[in-house]
Amino acid sequence: MNAPRLVVALDVDTLEAATGLVDLLRDEDIIFKVGYEGLFGFGDALRARLERDGRPTFVDAKLHDIPRTVGAAVRALVRPGVEILTVHALGGNDMMLAAVDAAEERARDLGIATPKVFGVTILTSIAPEDLNELGLRGGPGENVMRLAALARDAHCAGVVCSPHESHDLKRYFGADFQTLCPGIRPAGTPHGDQKRVATPADAVAAGADYLVVGRPITEAGDPAATTRMILEEMAAAARAR
Ligand code: C5P
Repeated sequence: MNAPRLVVALDVDTLEAATGLVDLLRDEDIIFKVGYEGLFGFGDALRARLERDGRPTFVDAKLHDIPRTVGAAVRALVRPGVEILTVHALGGNDMMLAAVDAAEERARDLGIATPKVFGVTILTSIAPEDLNELGLRGGPGENVMRLAALARDAHCAGVVCSPHESHDLKRYFGADFQTLCPGIRPAGTPHGDQKRVATPADAVAAGADYLVVGRPITEAGDPAATTRMILEEMAAAARAR
């Protein structure tokens, strides 16, 4: 099993704040995630900066539309340095296939490595009792498994899920099917809107390949020290697994 990677979500509201974090964390072995806030607010400038720095990037676009539109969006998003892209598994098999195909084609055209496409299963902000209201029968575990099967059939690299589902996913789909887990909260940090959370050590013990951390780092008094603390906690847990 590869060493788990830490993804830092650049969820801040200005380009200056985002590039400030990139500067502050430049020596850390992490992947930067650009999500809605960055993409819609100042995406081009931030992504150009990350590309110039040669930083591995995760573009968390969480695409969900008809297959042709999603394929076109993926083609527009793939560029050097983009290692990970996300689509909603609820968009269905054909939509995810269109994303995977477009990522492969565009990467081939650019002569770069193909980004991994991950299917978002059930958001970690959704509590078990919210599923019924969405018309989704069963608990989070069941829904995640069903959506993960769709993502696997569409050749996604893996799924976005809560650390609580990572262990079962690995057991069922095999170690090569990767799990990317937000909802990470070091002991003692506020949960905010996240409902299905785990510590970095527990997420690594559950087999997570990528841990996504936003506010515990972006809102820390010393983001670099907090990042290093999380990386150390992850490394210790990885040695034990
Ligand atoms: O601040 P926090 O650590 O909760 O940030 C988590 C990040 O992971 C956010 O950028 C959020 O958009 C993203 N994410 C998530 N749940 C998913 C997929 C992505 O929280 N299912």
